[in-house]
Amino acid sequence: LLIHGDGVSARTVSKQPDRQDRMSIPPQQPARGGAIHNLLGQRDVRVLESCDSTNRVARLALDDGAAVGLVVVSEVQTAGRGRLGRSWESSAGQNLLFSLVLKPRVPLERAASCVLSWAAAMAEVLDCRLKWPNDLQDERGAKLGGILSELHCSEPEEADSWCVILGVGLNVNQLDFPGLPDATSLRRMRQRSLDRSVLLRDLVRAIEEVDPSHSSALDLWRARSNTLGRHIRIGQREGLAESIRDDGALIVDGEPVLAGDVEFLSRTDGT
Ligand code: BTN
Repeated sequence: LLIHGDGVSARTVSKQPDRQDRMSIPPQQPARGGAIHNLLGQRDVRVLESCDSTNRVARLALDDGAAVGLVVVSEVQTAGRGRLGRSWESSAGQNLLFSLVLKPRVPLERAASCVLSWAAAMAEVLDCRLKWPNDLQDERGAKLGGILSELHCSEPEEADSWCVILGVGLNVNQLDFPGLPDATSLRRMRQRSLDRSVLLRDLVRAIEEVDPSHSSALDLWRARSNTLGRHIRIGQREGLAESIRDDGALIVDGEPVLAGDVEFLSRTDGT
């Protein structure tokens, strides 16, 4: 599988995960799961105390036949992954670390733009801003959360057998971020702590309500953008972030950019 952009990273999946993979799936821990199960209703929900990465657990579950709609949520990740090969660190028991499996009814080439629409739906729930492609930020550009989305293909011969593992790391109740001056949390933004189970339900609901096939699917992203209208640096390129294309590409001085990290060179008023 090959798809441009880093909104979704490509991954080809074997139908038979190796033994090591199977054995490293932590046992399900129902203790904290009650509230989450009640809130998320009739679906496959795996509530874990610890795992290496919820995206990886979700992928292995899909290999084992789990269905679209699967949610994997964990208190701790020992090998949480971020975009562009980075790691994702999160204080135990404070934040939300989850993966949700989605199957949008769009052609595969539109998978990256689906992720932008889902990020926008989350930004609505959280009342926050978005940095291209999928960073959740406060008004001043501090990072609240991020998304790592991966394609999963159960039958590589069948064009339509792909789905997306949407991995979300969201800083909810953590107050201190040693060594990360650009990180923030919902608690820091709102001066109160939040119920993470309710938040998870609201996010999953909002994401699943999105219709990414609709022509206006990216309008919400544009409205919540921290990036459009600003001078940015991305990779070797510097210029004005003018718009996003329907496939999710960022247009910088008339040229599409498919992947990378945006650095702001100007404030939101363009100065
Ligand atoms: C980013 O780099 O901004 C994306 C971070 C995504 C982290 C989340 S935490 C839950 C899921 N599991 C992972 O290993 N990564 C994602």
